[in-house]
Amino acid sequence: MSKLKKVVVIGGTGLIGSKAVKLLQEAGYEAIVASSRNGINAYTGEGLAEALKGADAVIDVSNLMSFDRQALIDFFGTSSRNLTSAEKLAGVRHHVVLSIVNADGLGANPYMTGKLAQEEAVAASGQSYTIVRATQFHEFMETLVGAYAVEGTVNVPDIDFQPIAADDVAAALVDVALAEPKNGTVDLAGPERAPFVSFIQTYLNAKGDASPVKADATLEYFGAPVVTDSLVPGGDYIKGRITIAEWLRE
Ligand SMILES: NC(=O)c1ccc[n+]([C@@H]2O[C@H](COP(=O)([O-])OP(=O)(O)OC[C@H]3O[C@@H](n4cnc5c(N)ncnc54)[C@H](OP(=O)(O)O)[C@@H]3O)[C@@H](O)[C@H]2O)c1
Repeated sequence: MSKLKKVVVIGGTGLIGSKAVKLLQEAGYEAIVASSRNGINAYTGEGLAEALKGADAVIDVSNLMSFDRQALIDFFGTSSRNLTSAEKLAGVRHHVVLSIVNADGLGANPYMTGKLAQEEAVAASGQSYTIVRATQFHEFMETLVGAYAVEGTVNVPDIDFQPIAADDVAAALVDVALAEPKNGTVDLAGPERAPFVSFIQTYLNAKGDASPVKADATLEYFGAPVVTDSLVPGGDYIKGRITIAEWLRE
Protein backbone atom coordinates (compact mmCIF):
# COMPACT_ATOMS: atom_id res chain seq x y z
CA MET A 1 0.00 0.00 0.00
CA SER A 2 1.48 3.37 -0.93
CA LYS A 3 1.92 5.86 1.91
CA LEU A 4 0.23 9.25 1.66
CA LYS A 5 2.82 11.86 0.69
CA LYS A 6 3.27 14.69 3.18
CA VAL A 7 4.17 18.17 1.96
CA VAL A 8 4.96 21.01 4.38
CA VAL A 9 4.00 24.48 3.11
CA ILE A 10 6.05 27.15 4.90
CA GLY A 11 3.85 30.24 4.70
CA GLY A 12 0.81 27.99 4.28
CA THR A 13 -1.57 30.71 5.51
CA GLY A 14 -0.43 33.30 2.91
CA LEU A 15 -1.70 34.14 -0.59
CA ILE A 16 0.25 31.44 -2.45
CA GLY A 17 0.64 29.05 0.47
CA SER A 18 -3.09 28.71 1.18
CA LYS A 19 -3.75 27.93 -2.49
CA ALA A 20 -0.94 25.33 -2.56
CA VAL A 21 -2.32 23.67 0.60
CA LYS A 22 -5.79 23.45 -0.96
CA LEU A 23 -4.46 21.93 -4.20
CA LEU A 24 -2.40 19.35 -2.30
CA GLN A 25 -5.36 18.36 -0.14
CA GLU A 26 -7.67 18.12 -3.16
CA ALA A 27 -5.12 15.82 -4.82
CA GLY A 28 -5.10 13.57 -1.75
CA TYR A 29 -1.81 14.60 -0.15
CA GLU A 30 -1.23 15.46 3.49
CA ALA A 31 -0.46 19.20 3.57
CA ILE A 32 0.95 20.84 6.69
CA VAL A 33 0.07 24.54 7.05
CA ALA A 34 3.24 26.01 8.53
CA SER A 35 3.37 29.63 9.69
CA SER A 36 4.84 31.44 12.66
CA ARG A 37 1.36 32.08 14.04
CA ASN A 38 0.71 28.36 14.27
CA GLY A 39 4.03 27.60 15.96
CA ILE A 40 6.17 26.60 12.97
CA ASN A 41 8.74 29.34 12.47
CA ALA A 42 11.32 29.11 9.69
CA TYR A 43 13.31 32.07 11.04
CA THR A 44 13.65 30.92 14.67
CA GLY A 45 13.48 27.20 13.93
CA GLU A 46 10.55 26.71 16.36
CA GLY A 47 8.47 23.63 15.54
CA LEU A 48 10.42 22.69 12.38
CA ALA A 49 11.76 19.27 13.44
CA GLU A 50 8.30 18.06 14.45
CA ALA A 51 6.55 19.48 11.33
CA LEU A 52 9.07 17.90 8.95
CA LYS A 53 8.90 14.35 10.36
CA GLY A 54 7.99 12.01 7.51
CA ALA A 55 7.68 14.85 4.97
CA ASP A 56 8.45 14.18 1.31
CA ALA A 57 8.77 17.82 0.21
CA VAL A 58 8.77 21.38 1.53
CA ILE A 59 7.36 24.37 -0.36
CA ASP A 60 8.71 27.63 1.07
CA VAL A 61 6.46 30.60 0.30
CA SER A 62 7.12 32.54 3.49
CA ASN A 63 7.50 36.29 3.20
CA LEU A 64 8.71 39.39 5.01
CA MET A 65 7.28 42.74 3.92
CA SER A 66 10.12 45.19 4.52
CA PHE A 67 12.28 47.78 2.73
CA ASP A 68 15.20 47.12 5.08
CA ARG A 69 17.90 45.37 3.03
CA GLN A 70 19.68 43.86 6.04
CA ALA A 71 16.46 42.61 7.64
CA LEU A 72 15.46 40.97 4.34
CA ILE A 73 18.85 39.28 3.83
CA ASP A 74 18.72 38.05 7.43
CA PHE A 75 15.11 36.78 7.23
CA PHE A 76 15.36 34.96 3.90
CA GLY A 77 18.92 33.68 4.42
CA THR A 78 18.44 32.48 8.01
CA SER A 79 15.03 30.90 7.28
CA SER A 80 16.42 28.98 4.31
CA ARG A 81 19.43 27.73 6.28
CA ASN A 82 17.15 26.61 9.14
CA LEU A 83 14.72 24.88 6.78
CA THR A 84 17.27 23.03 4.66
CA SER A 85 19.25 21.88 7.75
CA ALA A 86 16.10 20.54 9.39
CA GLU A 87 15.04 18.91 6.12
CA LYS A 88 18.35 17.08 5.76
CA LEU A 89 18.01 15.75 9.33
CA ALA A 90 14.43 14.65 8.67
CA GLY A 91 15.27 13.02 5.30
CA VAL A 92 13.02 15.33 3.25
CA ARG A 93 13.46 14.60 -0.48
CA HIS A 94 12.89 18.03 -2.05
CA HIS A 95 13.02 21.72 -1.01
CA VAL A 96 11.10 24.09 -3.30
CA VAL A 97 11.36 27.84 -2.84
CA LEU A 98 9.51 30.63 -4.60
CA SER A 99 11.69 33.48 -5.82
CA ILE A 100 11.37 36.20 -8.46
CA VAL A 101 12.39 36.26 -12.14
CA ASN A 102 15.76 38.01 -12.57
CA ALA A 103 16.23 38.42 -8.80
CA ASP A 104 19.99 38.27 -9.44
CA GLY A 105 19.92 41.22 -11.85
CA LEU A 106 17.99 43.68 -9.68
CA GLY A 107 20.23 43.96 -6.63
CA ALA A 108 19.64 47.69 -6.17
CA ASN A 109 16.13 46.72 -5.04
CA PRO A 110 16.47 45.69 -1.34
CA TYR A 111 13.73 43.04 -1.58
CA MET A 112 15.53 41.35 -4.49
CA THR A 113 18.73 41.23 -2.42
CA GLY A 114 16.78 39.33 0.22
CA LYS A 115 15.44 36.90 -2.37
CA LEU A 116 18.94 36.38 -3.74
CA ALA A 117 20.21 35.62 -0.21
CA GLN A 118 17.39 33.06 0.01
CA GLU A 119 18.36 31.45 -3.32
CA GLU A 120 22.06 31.37 -2.39
CA ALA A 121 21.37 29.78 1.02
CA VAL A 122 19.27 27.06 -0.63
CA ALA A 123 21.78 26.35 -3.42
CA ALA A 124 24.66 26.11 -0.90
CA SER A 125 22.75 23.92 1.57
CA GLY A 126 23.50 20.43 0.26
CA GLN A 127 19.74 19.71 0.32
CA SER A 128 18.08 18.73 -2.99
CA TYR A 129 16.13 21.72 -4.23
CA THR A 130 14.33 23.58 -6.98
CA ILE A 131 14.16 27.39 -7.08
CA VAL A 132 11.01 28.58 -8.88
CA ARG A 133 11.35 32.18 -10.03
CA ALA A 134 7.97 33.74 -10.80
CA THR A 135 7.06 37.05 -12.39
CA GLN A 136 4.86 39.54 -10.51
CA PHE A 137 1.43 38.25 -9.48
CA HIS A 138 -1.81 39.67 -10.90
CA GLU A 139 -2.69 40.15 -7.21
CA PHE A 140 0.32 42.53 -6.89
CA MET A 141 -1.19 45.04 -9.35
CA GLU A 142 -2.88 47.20 -6.70
CA THR A 143 0.43 47.56 -4.82
CA LEU A 144 2.16 48.53 -8.08
CA VAL A 145 -0.48 51.16 -8.87
CA GLY A 146 -0.08 52.59 -5.37
CA ALA A 147 3.70 52.64 -5.66
CA TYR A 148 3.74 54.46 -9.01
CA ALA A 149 0.82 56.88 -8.55
CA VAL A 150 1.89 60.51 -8.21
CA GLU A 151 -0.72 63.26 -7.99
CA GLY A 152 -3.37 61.22 -9.79
CA THR A 153 -1.13 59.98 -12.64
CA VAL A 154 0.33 56.49 -12.75
CA ASN A 155 3.78 56.60 -14.39
CA VAL A 156 5.47 53.23 -14.67
CA PRO A 157 8.85 52.08 -16.08
CA ASP A 158 8.90 51.63 -19.86
CA ILE A 159 9.56 47.88 -19.71
CA ASP A 160 7.90 44.57 -20.54
CA PHE A 161 5.77 42.77 -18.01
CA GLN A 162 4.34 39.23 -17.89
CA PRO A 163 2.30 38.85 -14.70
CA ILE A 164 0.88 35.58 -13.45
CA ALA A 165 -2.14 34.64 -11.33
CA ALA A 166 -1.52 33.31 -7.81
CA ASP A 167 -3.60 30.23 -8.74
CA ASP A 168 -1.14 29.40 -11.54
CA VAL A 169 1.83 29.97 -9.23
CA ALA A 170 0.43 27.62 -6.58
CA ALA A 171 -0.33 24.92 -9.18
CA ALA A 172 3.17 25.11 -10.66
CA LEU A 173 4.79 24.91 -7.21
CA VAL A 174 2.81 21.78 -6.35
CA ASP A 175 3.78 20.15 -9.67
CA VAL A 176 7.45 21.03 -9.13
CA ALA A 177 7.43 19.80 -5.52
CA LEU A 178 6.02 16.40 -6.48
CA ALA A 179 8.56 15.99 -9.31
CA GLU A 180 12.31 15.34 -9.02
CA PRO A 181 14.54 18.13 -7.66
CA LYS A 182 16.30 20.10 -10.40
CA ASN A 183 19.06 21.41 -8.14
CA GLY A 184 18.67 24.57 -10.19
CA THR A 185 16.23 27.26 -11.18
CA VAL A 186 13.04 27.28 -13.27
CA ASP A 187 11.23 30.42 -14.39
CA LEU A 188 7.46 30.85 -14.25
CA ALA A 189 5.46 33.58 -16.01
CA GLY A 190 1.95 34.47 -17.12
CA PRO A 191 0.46 33.76 -20.56
CA GLU A 192 0.88 37.30 -21.98
CA ARG A 193 3.92 39.55 -22.40
CA ALA A 194 3.26 43.24 -23.08
CA PRO A 195 4.42 46.67 -21.95
CA PHE A 196 3.99 47.21 -18.20
CA VAL A 197 1.89 50.30 -18.96
CA SER A 198 -0.73 48.28 -20.84
CA PHE A 199 -1.32 45.90 -17.90
CA ILE A 200 -1.72 48.87 -15.55
CA GLN A 201 -4.18 50.43 -18.01
CA THR A 202 -6.21 47.19 -18.22
CA TYR A 203 -6.27 46.95 -14.44
CA LEU A 204 -7.41 50.55 -13.94
CA ASN A 205 -10.03 50.27 -16.70
CA ALA A 206 -11.52 47.22 -14.98
CA LYS A 207 -11.69 49.15 -11.72
CA GLY A 208 -13.31 52.15 -13.43
CA ASP A 209 -10.33 54.32 -12.47
CA ALA A 210 -9.72 57.04 -15.10
CA SER A 211 -6.28 58.07 -13.80
CA PRO A 212 -3.89 58.81 -16.70
CA VAL A 213 -1.23 56.13 -17.20
CA LYS A 214 2.16 56.74 -18.85
CA ALA A 215 5.38 54.84 -19.55
CA ASP A 216 8.49 56.68 -18.37
CA ALA A 217 11.90 55.34 -19.43
CA THR A 218 13.64 57.07 -16.51
CA LEU A 219 11.72 55.21 -13.77
CA GLU A 220 13.21 52.39 -11.68
CA TYR A 221 11.65 49.28 -10.19
CA PHE A 222 11.69 49.85 -6.41
CA GLY A 223 15.21 51.28 -6.49
CA ALA A 224 16.63 49.12 -9.29
CA PRO A 225 17.41 50.56 -12.75
CA VAL A 226 15.56 48.47 -15.36
CA VAL A 227 15.69 47.74 -19.10
CA THR A 228 13.00 46.22 -21.35
CA ASP A 229 13.57 42.60 -20.26
CA SER A 230 14.35 43.12 -16.57
CA LEU A 231 11.13 41.57 -15.22
CA VAL A 232 10.47 38.84 -17.80
CA PRO A 233 12.13 35.43 -18.33
CA GLY A 234 15.08 35.37 -20.72
CA GLY A 235 14.78 31.71 -21.75
CA ASP A 236 12.44 28.74 -21.23
CA TYR A 237 9.77 29.03 -18.58
CA ILE A 238 6.63 27.39 -17.23
CA LYS A 239 3.67 29.33 -18.62
CA GLY A 240 0.59 30.09 -16.52
CA ARG A 241 -2.80 30.05 -18.23
CA ILE A 242 -4.90 32.77 -16.54
CA THR A 243 -4.79 36.10 -18.39
CA ILE A 244 -5.21 39.35 -16.53
CA ALA A 245 -8.61 39.86 -18.21
CA GLU A 246 -9.80 36.45 -16.98
CA TRP A 247 -8.45 37.16 -13.50
CA LEU A 248 -10.18 40.55 -13.44
CA ARG A 249 -13.50 38.97 -14.48
CA GLU A 250 -13.29 36.61 -11.51
N1 LIG B 1 4.14 39.49 -5.00
C1 LIG B 1 4.68 39.06 -6.12
O1 LIG B 1 4.34 39.55 -7.21
C2 LIG B 1 5.72 37.96 -6.09
C3 LIG B 1 6.32 37.53 -7.28
C4 LIG B 1 7.21 36.47 -7.27
C5 LIG B 1 7.50 35.84 -6.06
N2 LIG B 1 6.92 36.26 -4.89
C6 LIG B 1 7.23 35.53 -3.64
O2 LIG B 1 6.07 34.81 -3.25
C7 LIG B 1 6.24 34.41 -1.89
C8 LIG B 1 4.89 34.30 -1.25
O3 LIG B 1 4.23 35.53 -1.29
P1 LIG B 1 2.75 35.71 -0.69
O4 LIG B 1 2.23 36.96 -1.27
O5 LIG B 1 1.99 34.43 -0.80
O6 LIG B 1 3.09 35.97 0.86
P2 LIG B 1 2.08 36.37 2.01
O7 LIG B 1 0.66 36.30 1.57
O8 LIG B 1 2.60 37.64 2.61
O9 LIG B 1 2.27 35.17 3.07
C9 LIG B 1 3.45 35.03 3.78
C10 LIG B 1 3.37 33.78 4.62
O10 LIG B 1 4.63 33.61 5.29
C11 LIG B 1 4.37 33.24 6.64
N3 LIG B 1 5.56 33.56 7.43
C12 LIG B 1 6.12 34.77 7.65
N4 LIG B 1 7.19 34.64 8.46
C13 LIG B 1 7.31 33.31 8.72
C14 LIG B 1 8.22 32.54 9.49
N5 LIG B 1 9.21 33.10 10.18
N6 LIG B 1 8.04 31.19 9.55
C15 LIG B 1 7.00 30.59 8.88
N7 LIG B 1 6.13 31.27 8.14
C16 LIG B 1 6.27 32.61 8.06
C17 LIG B 1 3.12 34.04 6.98
O11 LIG B 1 2.43 33.54 8.11
P3 LIG B 1 2.74 34.06 9.61
O12 LIG B 1 2.66 35.55 9.57
O13 LIG B 1 1.75 33.38 10.48
O14 LIG B 1 4.11 33.58 9.93
C18 LIG B 1 2.29 33.81 5.72
O15 LIG B 1 1.67 32.55 5.79
C19 LIG B 1 7.22 35.43 -1.29
O16 LIG B 1 8.38 34.76 -0.88
C20 LIG B 1 7.53 36.40 -2.44
O17 LIG B 1 8.88 36.78 -2.45
C21 LIG B 1 6.04 37.30 -4.89
